Amino acid sequence: MKIDGRDSRTLWVAADGGAVEIIDQTRLPHEFAVRRLETAEEAATAIRDMWVRGAPLIGVTAAYGLALAARHDASDAGLATAAQMLAATRPTAVNLRWALERVLQTVTPLPPAERGDAAWRLAGEMAEEDVALCAAIGAHGAVLLEALWRDRRAAGAERLNILTHCNAGWLAAIDWGTALAPVYKAHELGVPLHVWVDETRPRNQGAALTARELNWAGVSHSVIADNAGGHLMQHGEVDAVIVGTDRTTAEGDVCNKIGTYLKALAAHDNGVPFYVALPGPTIDWRVQDGLREIPIEERSAAEVTSIVGRGPAGALVAVQLTPDGSPARNPAFDVTPARLVTALVTERGVCPASRAGLLRLYPERAGA
Ligand code: MRU
Repeated sequence: MKIDGRDSRTLWVAADGGAVEIIDQTRLPHEFAVRRLETAEEAATAIRDMWVRGAPLIGVTAAYGLALAARHDASDAGLATAAQMLAATRPTAVNLRWALERVLQTVTPLPPAERGDAAWRLAGEMAEEDVALCAAIGAHGAVLLEALWRDRRAAGAERLNILTHCNAGWLAAIDWGTALAPVYKAHELGVPLHVWVDETRPRNQGAALTARELNWAGVSHSVIADNAGGHLMQHGEVDAVIVGTDRTTAEGDVCNKIGTYLKALAAHDNGVPFYVALPGPTIDWRVQDGLREIPIEERSAAEVTSIVGRGPAGALVAVQLTPDGSPARNPAFDVTPARLVTALVTERGVCPASRAGLLRLYPERAGA
C-alpha cells in the first residue's frame, strides 16, 4: 500500500533490529501513530488491545512476539509460557494458533542458543509469505471482478458496486489484505469500482480503517450504516459482497466479524454473489462445524455502550451512547454457513465453499 506515495506495510523490523514496529490502529483514521514492540508481553498487548488486528496480521505479530521471547529465554518452558500468553490474547482467528505452532515446531528441535535467531528469521519469512498470499488472492479475485464488470457494463452499468464488511484490507494483513486485495488489483486494471463500506459497529473497522485505506488508494467508496446493506441489495445497488474470514472450517463455513452472517443472508435473498477471501493459514482443518466448534470472542460491553471519535478539539474522545444502567453484550464474530457462500477466493484459486472444493485446492490436506 502506498501512503502519500511511499510503500508502507503494517509491521516492519525496527532500524536497530531490536524490535518490530507497527501502526497503532486504534488511533486511525485520525492519527498515524507508530509503536515499538520489544517484548512478547508488548506483542500480546498489541494484539489484545487491537493496536494490530485482522487475522493475518495477528498471526505475524504473534510470531514476532514469540521470537522476541526466544531472544530473552529460549528454554522449552520459556517458549511454552510465551506461546500460551500470546495464544490467549484473541480466541477466534486461527492464524494466531497456526503462527505460534509453526514457530514452536521449527525452533524446538534446535539448541536453545540458536532458537532466537531462527524464530526471528521465520517470523520475517511469514511476513513475506503473507504478502505473497494476499497478492495471489488479489489476482484470482480480480478475475472474478473483471468478469462481473463485463456483465454489468453490457447491461449498461457505469460502475461495479462491491460491499464489504469490517476491514479485511491492507491493515488486516502485512500488505494488500484479503477481501480488499481483489478490489485493489481490479482498480489497477481499470475496473471502475465503487465500494460500500459497512461501518462495522461496535469498533467501526469499516468506517475507520477500510475507508482510510480506500482513501489512500484512491478507490471510490461510501461508508454506510451497517443496516443499509440489505436495502441497497434489494435495489440492485450491490453487484457482489466480498469479506474476509478469521477461521474457515474444513467444510467451508466462515467465521468473520459480527454482522457478516446478516449480509450473507441478505445477499442470498437478493441473488447477490457473496465471496469470502482467505489465505490458506485461515483454514482450520480440525474444525468441521463452524457454529458449534469455533470459539467466539466476547469483548467488553463498553465497546457497545460508547463510541470513540475525534472531538471538536481534535483529540480522540469516547462518548456514551446508552442510558446508565443498561447492560450490553458484545460477541465479536459470527459464523456464516457454507451454503450462503458463493465461492472462496484463496491464493490457489477460487473454489466452492465445501470440503470437496477446498480439497481440490489443498489436496495435501486429504485425510487431515
Ligand atoms: O476484530 P478484528 O478487527 O481483528 O476483525 C477482523 C476481521 O473480522 C477481518 O474480516 C478478518 O480478520 C479477515 S482479515 C483479512
